[in-house]
Amino acid sequence: MFAQTRFGTIAVGVVMMARVLPGFLVGPLAGVLADRWDRKKTMVAADLGRGLLVFSLPFVPNLAYFIVVSALLESLTLLWGPAKDASLPHFVERAQLTHANSLSLIAIYGPWPLASILFASLAGLGSFVGDHVEVMRGLSDNPEAMALWVDALTFAFSAAMISTLAIPSSKTGAGRFDLRAVKRDLIEGLQFVAAHKQVRPWMLGIAITFTAAGGVFSLGPEFTTQILDSGPSAYGFIIGSFGGGMLVGLIASGFLAKHLSKDVLFSSSVILLGVGLILLASMSSVGAVVPIAAALGFFGGVGYSVGYALIQETSEEELRGRTFGAAYTLIRIGTLIGLGVFPLIAGAIGDNTVDLVGGATLALPGSRVTWWIAGLLVIGGGILSTTAIGARRSPGALQAVRNSFFVVFEGGEGAGKSTQMAAFVKWLQSRGDDVVVTREPGGTRLGERLREVLLDTSSSLDARAEALLFAADRAQHAAEVIKPALAKGRIVVSDRFLDSSLAYQGLARGLGLKEIYELSSWATGGLMPDLVFLLTVDPETGKARLSGERDRLEMEGDDFHDRVADAYLELSTKFTDRFVVLDGTRSASQVHADVVAEFEVRSAGRVVAPGRSYQAAPGPVPR
Ligand code: TYD
Repeated sequence: MFAQTRFGTIAVGVVMMARVLPGFLVGPLAGVLADRWDRKKTMVAADLGRGLLVFSLPFVPNLAYFIVVSALLESLTLLWGPAKDASLPHFVERAQLTHANSLSLIAIYGPWPLASILFASLAGLGSFVGDHVEVMRGLSDNPEAMALWVDALTFAFSAAMISTLAIPSSKTGAGRFDLRAVKRDLIEGLQFVAAHKQVRPWMLGIAITFTAAGGVFSLGPEFTTQILDSGPSAYGFIIGSFGGGMLVGLIASGFLAKHLSKDVLFSSSVILLGVGLILLASMSSVGAVVPIAAALGFFGGVGYSVGYALIQETSEEELRGRTFGAAYTLIRIGTLIGLGVFPLIAGAIGDNTVDLVGGATLALPGSRVTWWIAGLLVIGGGILSTTAIGARRSPGALQAVRNSFFVVFEGGEGAGKSTQMAAFVKWLQSRGDDVVVTREPGGTRLGERLREVLLDTSSSLDARAEALLFAADRAQHAAEVIKPALAKGRIVVSDRFLDSSLAYQGLARGLGLKEIYELSSWATGGLMPDLVFLLTVDPETGKARLSGERDRLEMEGDDFHDRVADAYLELSTKFTDRFVVLDGTRSASQVHADVVAEFEVRSAGRVVAPGRSYQAAPGPVPR
């Protein structure tokens, strides 16, 4: 409105573009930042920034500045939005999320009509103050300034309110700003949205619906004049009834969600939205269109707030900002495509008439046919989104998908495992990864005590007792350290794991591969590494590299160590999907380069559900 009074109607278009375009760039990034930065600080900073920008507008009255400010305002709003949506579940119980989303949407869109009245009266007040108060003389020439400054104050108020809230900061909040980490976060967020069996169909449903909505709004005036034979006031009336229906839908959604599953509610409102659109497009009088428009608004409102609640419930805390960043972007892209493409389709179809039997004719203008297509599209989107209903029943579907990864270093004595592990961990940390470093035997308090027994040269352990103690150590290790870390999406790097038992006890001691595998799988509930680096050196070189006192296993004879080396090679050819064999006789930096390269290949594009590697059926049983 400010743009219109100042710079004319065309400027409104340019300013609108300036507000829509940042969505493409800032939308996904905003989600990353909402997950990475402290959400509270992000919201407060965005509010203060918006307040300052709005405040500054009257001081620099030129269009270029106004456009820049519009783009910045939109960017800050985009930053604020995902942070808000991601924080909401902290304050609101799951069952109340739909209500909360409706309220927040009503708070955003509800006051629009009020805002224009307020804007006009504040501008009036501005001229009055300017005319009557000496120091405020400037306000007479620039009456809107008053309204803008009040607006700026509301942002400051919002910032002050938010700063009193207790919002837990997100996990990576303390991290420094690191572009590679941001890129990784972005990819992780996109993978989550693209791979999640429920979030993906919901997002598609939302995007398609907004594409159709863009089409409806762009062709609305044409439809009203051509088909309904009415003017702009009728169009305004239709939009008003749509908006009213939407308000009712938003309010009703919370109550509906109590009695119906949200995913069923979401898909059915999207499908009904499509059906309603086809129906609406088939009507030829304003009287028939108005109630259908209200119904469309109703289903739109229900779908919108239930869809938001679903995504809030389903996405994991640490990924939620990015999930909403993706939602914002999809909504914007969808709307823009709808606005741009649908009029073209309507133009291409052109206005046709169909002769019916008995001499009657049916008018088929382009806008009607295009709306039918849009309606079908929405029905399609709704049907697509029903796949989410099926997905909720599959185990683990409600868990987030993320980049947890379990890497193990294996090898005989003196193969350079420790050096390589340290270098690898350092590399991971420099990328900003959340790494847990651990070892076997050991890794837990119990494990360290078992380690003493196992490695003590004075223990005389029977082979089976030894195998059981290693398995006991692993059971504790998996339960206490590895599984919780993987469930949090961390990367676990362990010095030895199951394959040590397979090599040492299963093969070198001759207790049997299958037996030791089953023992270990039972101990850990089937937990398997995603990637095993096997460092090889011939046992002679390995032995020469050893320093300090020998432990019980290192004291074993050469033939035992030869058997271990052979055993590892056998395992690596049997289990090629997890093993990567690296020649440990090369320089440490050469080996490290291979480790990094292999890890990047094996972990790229890999989306692992937490627990996937240990809840799923245990891997192939070796013979
Ligand atoms: P450690 O000092 O960790 O060995 P290294 O420095 O060579 O990694 O001692 C672990 C010893 O325990 C090692 O000789 C291998 C053996 N071991 C088994 O025999 N079975 C197992 O399951 C594990 C985890 C280790």
